[in-house]
Amino acid sequence: MKKVLITGSSGLVGKAIQNILPDKEQYIFITSKDADLTDMSETKRLFEKYKPTHVIHLAACVGGLYKNMNNKVEMLEQNLLMNFNIVKCAHDYKVEKLIACLSTCIFPDKTTYPINEEMLHDGPPHNSNDCYAYAKRMLEIQCNAYRENYGDNFICVIPTNIYGPYDNFNLEDGHVIPSLIHKCYLAKKEGKPFIVRGTGKPLRQFIYSEDLGKLILWVLENTNERSLILSVDKEDEVTIEHMARLIAKEFDYENNLFFDASFSDGQYKKTADNSKLMSLYNDFDFIAHEEGIKKTVKWFTNNYETARK
Ligand SMILES: NC(=O)c1ccc[n+]([C@@H]2O[C@H](COP(=O)([O-])OP(=O)(O)OC[C@H]3O[C@@H](n4cnc5c(N)ncnc54)[C@H](OP(=O)(O)O)[C@@H]3O)[C@@H](O)[C@H]2O)c1
Repeated sequence: MKKVLITGSSGLVGKAIQNILPDKEQYIFITSKDADLTDMSETKRLFEKYKPTHVIHLAACVGGLYKNMNNKVEMLEQNLLMNFNIVKCAHDYKVEKLIACLSTCIFPDKTTYPINEEMLHDGPPHNSNDCYAYAKRMLEIQCNAYRENYGDNFICVIPTNIYGPYDNFNLEDGHVIPSLIHKCYLAKKEGKPFIVRGTGKPLRQFIYSEDLGKLILWVLENTNERSLILSVDKEDEVTIEHMARLIAKEFDYENNLFFDASFSDGQYKKTADNSKLMSLYNDFDFIAHEEGIKKTVKWFTNNYETARK
């Protein structure tokens, strides 16, 4: 029987995977309370204790624009250490399959669109998240090195922007969707306008956390591709404005939504090409964002006291 160790189980993606698994018997859900993965001896102890046959490595030091810019040393060192320890232990303890998580935001800043799996190292990442990006790129290099020299089945999955319950809803450190949900919640509570920074025009491919969880579990069972972008189609890119309107609608606060164009928009688009995924799994049914936002807002509102914010 498989024994699947999942790191980062208390996070956005880890919780989603826990929620969709009908039978959790084969799974071991790890958080930083079980082991500090930046520490090699603690990581080894984890592998010795559970002897996993498979590993889904989600744990990471993650954040939005401001967290990345203000905590470069932490983003670099924590991620390098965690990833190094997990990949090395996966090899040393003879794990049959490792799925490691990258991100489309670590791709070159100056590139052509859509980006695909082969373009990761074609140029430097954007300066704002370079430390997170280089740490994640080294994860891919390390997985490939073990694959090429030892034949290890180490796979890198590459998701686009994720949102859902259990996200980090911090107004400064969080990603765009959870931050906007928190902002709209507070605006309505205080009777103030819901102001979105920027024009709202940039395009993004958002994926609901449970959809990503389903795709990761599918990868675990069905493919041994070296790397795979996990994303909605290029045609399903939406504007930040579209998502902000869905959020405002959920709070019944649509008439109070404004855009402040004096703030920077960031990159206009980061289009990712999911054709490799579609060639392997073309009937995956992505949830509509209206439904994803509804579920996320409901979760945040019901769990306001305890949510990460
Ligand atoms: N969020 C996105 O939009 C996005 C987009 C693309 C890719 N990704 C990638 O997807 C993966 C999952 O991200 P997420 O958004 O679910 O992250 P998250 O919600 O921030 O959760 C991070 C997880 O990592 C664990 N962790 C952090 N430091 C640790 C340490 N030193 N030792 C052990 N565990 C530690 C945390 O455990 P505690 O709760 O115990 O601290 C938590 O379970 C990450 O690899 C991330 O880079 C995320």
